[in-house]
Amino acid sequence: MTSTRSDRRSLAVILAAGEGTRMRSARPKVLHEVAGRSMLGHVLATVVEAGASAVAVVVGPGRDDVAAEARAVSPSVRIFVQHERKGTAHAVLAAREALAEGWDDVIVAFADTPLVTAETYRAMSRASADGLAVAVLGFEADDPTGYGRLLKDDGRLVAIREHKDATDVEREVTLCNAGLMALAGRHALSLLDSIGADNAQKEFYLTDAVAAAHAAGLAVGAVEAPETEVMGVNDRVQLSKAEALVQNRLRERAMRDGATLVAPETVFFSHDTRIGRDVMIEPNVVFGPGVTVDDGVVIHAFSHLEGASVGPGASVGPFARLRPGAKLGPKSRVGNFVEIKNADLETGAKVNHLTYIGDARVGEGANVGAGTITCNYDGYGKYRTDIGKGAFVGSNSSLVAPVTIGDGAYVGSGSVVTKDVPADSLAVARGHQSVIAGWATAFRTKMKDVKKR
Ligand code: UD1
Ligand code: CA
Repeated sequence: MTSTRSDRRSLAVILAAGEGTRMRSARPKVLHEVAGRSMLGHVLATVVEAGASAVAVVVGPGRDDVAAEARAVSPSVRIFVQHERKGTAHAVLAAREALAEGWDDVIVAFADTPLVTAETYRAMSRASADGLAVAVLGFEADDPTGYGRLLKDDGRLVAIREHKDATDVEREVTLCNAGLMALAGRHALSLLDSIGADNAQKEFYLTDAVAAAHAAGLAVGAVEAPETEVMGVNDRVQLSKAEALVQNRLRERAMRDGATLVAPETVFFSHDTRIGRDVMIEPNVVFGPGVTVDDGVVIHAFSHLEGASVGPGASVGPFARLRPGAKLGPKSRVGNFVEIKNADLETGAKVNHLTYIGDARVGEGANVGAGTITCNYDGYGKYRTDIGKGAFVGSNSSLVAPVTIGDGAYVGSGSVVTKDVPADSLAVARGHQSVIAGWATAFRTKMKDVKKR
């Protein structure tokens, strides 16, 4: 980072007016998700992280859903509508009012290019600070087909030629345009206004800012990024590739932060998953949004977590499901085939087998036996179950909420508990067992006689 970076005023303009027809979706393309967050959300969060002082998002007409997502990610975002789709330069100019406010640089980002890192946006901004009127983002393409080519003369960038407009010789060039660029704030409007639509698609191309800057005697250049960062998403195959790349980044981050992933390629994170140190994550674990995992936790195979927090030293799974509002205290245990929703397990509480705990508290050190169900829902409302410190709930019990099991109380196996259980007492709520001595012997004798006849 240059020393001037912090006091530069930078406007990010995110183009999100794409049609996205190749997604074959009722949902706008930029609202499709990667690692549990919309592509637009990724780009918005990243430009903010990179230090943008203000963000403008350009949406298509009537796209309140896109505008709403932008505001949800960053409330101060400014929304502009591109009424007709006439090209990338035309789209940037939809934010004319914002562009005119006098910025040091204007970063143009694409909402369908979600993997660009904050470091790359900063590099573009720096290139602008270093005197480039136009700094484009380039990459070496494995297969350049379809991309605009960066045309150089004597090592200097002179123009960008869209694939459709390129000659055969120009099509040999592998240095391609990612589409994004940084414009010097004081030249941005005049450069964009000078762009015409004289090309194969009759569109106003942002890329023509390069030739326009040349014509005006201004400096242009390119910043390069790896191809994996600049991939654009146009269909669901590319969406899955973007997902795979982001998952790999998230897995690496978790491991570098001190988690062991036995089979990283089978673990799926959300963009916001927070993992502590000395966490062990076994194969086939999936994290939905909003999960925090503290230090020293073990997450056994085939577990699914969402909206949950897991306290230090806790153990989860195998085959556990933590749903939103699950809060596992230090050293608590949630075992196989257990579902926890909107419930606190306090320190050392154990819920080890085949159990549903919803809308509940399980007190410190309490033990919930196999097959316990909190009956929290009657088709209309949700009701709470409170299990006290050190309580012991016998296997196969139904706790019909609202109900309280006092500290240190016992619930006999197979009970259907409908009334509160006082502390340190025993509740048994099941049929009495009767024993008829010799009954089985008599029964077998009788049945053998019947069969002989
Ligand atoms: C663009 C670049 C091309 C580059 C490629 C990289 C231009 C002219 N071309 O081509 O050089 O190699 O990206 O993927 O910039 N958009 C609008 N309104 C419009 C047109 C586009 O908002 O009127 C938005 C799209 O939603 C998208 C972005 O701008 O987010 C890029 O537009 P797209 O049509 O996908 O450009 P490409 O043809 O891919
Ligand atoms: Ca594109």
